Amino acid sequence: MIDVHSHVLPFIDDGAKDMATSIEMLKIAEGEGIKYIFATPHYIENEGYNEKLKNNEILEQVNIELKKENIDIEIILGNEVYISPNIIELIEKEEVSLLGDSNYLLIELPMAQIPIYLEDIIYELKLKGIIPIIAHPERYREVKNDPNILKKYIELGAFAQLNLGSLMGDYGDDIERTAKILLEHNMIHFLGTDAHSRTRRPPRAKDAIKVLEAIISKEKINDLIEINPMRIINNEEFEAGDVTQYKEKKGILNFLKEKFKK
Ligand SMILES: [Fe+2]
Repeated sequence: MIDVHSHVLPFIDDGAKDMATSIEMLKIAEGEGIKYIFATPHYIENEGYNEKLKNNEILEQVNIELKKENIDIEIILGNEVYISPNIIELIEKEEVSLLGDSNYLLIELPMAQIPIYLEDIIYELKLKGIIPIIAHPERYREVKNDPNILKKYIELGAFAQLNLGSLMGDYGDDIERTAKILLEHNMIHFLGTDAHSRTRRPPRAKDAIKVLEAIISKEKINDLIEINPMRIINNEEFEAGDVTQYKEKKGILNFLKEKFKK
């Protein structure tokens, strides 16, 4: 399993608070069958997260501890970049890290409202040869309300990463339901733990993968946990495949829900 989204590096953001926590998280991850982890500390423009050099140094320290503890995991540096109209500039100035040595970039969107400039940003990134991956779309309000919104971004050339915890109900029923819809409609390309600590959102994978087995085929699961993320590691491009349009089931319950919404 390759985890493409985690806050496993210590001292940086709201992830691992110290080295001991970081190592504990990595031990859990190893037990969960995770072989590679993309460490993706938050980058939020103008909020003092401009720490690419420091992040590299911290990664080196973590690697020393990994060796001491005999933990067989490779950590690859990236960022979870909060969307900004200046994102191209931030990449060009090397203020933010792409995922490892690849052209893939993990992007976070505001929970409440997706900016209207997102379509332009995807287009511009693609022109520059950069491939955006939208972090945890199932958590965004607009995607919950209309999962087909994500289809539009994928057709423009973005990929999407689902949080494994969303399948375990970690963020509530609505997000769990949305996660399943996105998977069933071929709108997800990568998986991540989005792990923040040993207890709050630990890097768990096995139970969520069992849930996945009831939603999509074994072959598709393998694409999400191995094949696609290995393409990031090897910096290879690939096609997202056809997305299916989500059609809301109009049962009596939904009819009543709609009626009482008004
Ligand atoms: Fe995150």
